[in-house]
Amino acid sequence: MAKNRPIPQLNDFQNANILVIGDIMLDCYLWGKVERISPEAPVPIVHAQKKTYMLGGAGNVALNLSSLGCNCNIIALCGMDSAGSRVEKMLEENRISCHLLNDENRMTITKTRIMAIKQQLLRIDEEKKHVLSENEKESLLTRIKKTLPQYHSVILSDYGKGLLQTQGFTESVISLCRSQKIPVLVDPKGRDWERYNNATCVTPNSAELNLVAGEMESGDNSENPLEEEKLLVEISRKIRERYGLEWLLVTRGPKGMCLTGKDEKPFIVATQARQVYDVSGAGDTVISVLAAGLSIGLSFEDAALLANKAAGIVVGKVGTQPVTKDELELAINTNN
Ligand SMILES: Nc1ncnc2c1ncn2[C@@H]1O[C@H](COP(=O)(O)OP(=O)(O)OP(=O)(O)O)[C@@H](O)[C@H]1O
Ligand SMILES: [Mg+2]
Repeated sequence: MAKNRPIPQLNDFQNANILVIGDIMLDCYLWGKVERISPEAPVPIVHAQKKTYMLGGAGNVALNLSSLGCNCNIIALCGMDSAGSRVEKMLEENRISCHLLNDENRMTITKTRIMAIKQQLLRIDEEKKHVLSENEKESLLTRIKKTLPQYHSVILSDYGKGLLQTQGFTESVISLCRSQKIPVLVDPKGRDWERYNNATCVTPNSAELNLVAGEMESGDNSENPLEEEKLLVEISRKIRERYGLEWLLVTRGPKGMCLTGKDEKPFIVATQARQVYDVSGAGDTVISVLAAGLSIGLSFEDAALLANKAAGIVVGKVGTQPVTKDELELAINTNN
């Protein structure tokens, strides 16, 4: 941590209550060996040896929160299928309480990777987009309104699978949170950000920012790093104003982060040089740690610094794995 900044007290995470609403998925890995080519078609035959599972999408956000020691509840859609039962069991094993809206017409989104000695050969996605029915929406909003006061922050983890695209749903959740003064943080998807209007903070990566900025110049492709930052801050301001956002946290992969708020100076965070194995899931870690930090009373700047540190840890891990409280504590203490 930089000088003059408070040292985050990570034990306080156990008192943090965070609600995650979003698209949950089951990540399945089928591990095997390739020993021959199929006689049926010119493709390798994978001799399957084991299957492993991980919580994906919004489920990975919840997993990050629980491995930090936070209390977490997740609201998501899933199917009445074996993948849905597995998701529910995994949430339970990780002390994540859940409200899964299942329906026989829905399926649990599953992404299966066929792996041969750490090499991904193929990914099979089983998914369908589902929105809430009008009745489901109304009863879910009533439930959220009633339970909201117990939470310190809310995360909307949008993977574009439908829940947060339900007409009027995301807008209503944001307005409930704002009226109860609970920070609501959004990990966005796509170019239509109208539904995120008035959120406390949105956390796009550079590509997602450029997509929504559309006609505005790209903020992250200049040769000159100072010019690039200036442009990024300017685009961030326009996007914040257009959608009435209090904060915008742009994650910039190896270039770190850029946090801008209404009346604040831009807060640029650089990554620390480290070995990078797998950047997948870094965005989930960022929004989880940002929410966790705000929930224990950190400022947006300090929560973003902590999120950057945490993301630096997860990119050094193989596969999508959450950050733990101990790892984050060690990184703070050794100033890594
Ligand atoms: N190559 C890297 N080196 C160091 N840190 C990194 C690297 N890539 C990502 N990070 C860290 O992770 C954060 C989020 O990364 P990124 O901007 O790629 O998010 P993302 O594209 O949303 O990720 P995801 O693939 O999970 O959706 C960065 O702000 C940074 O802190
Ligand atoms: Mg992301």
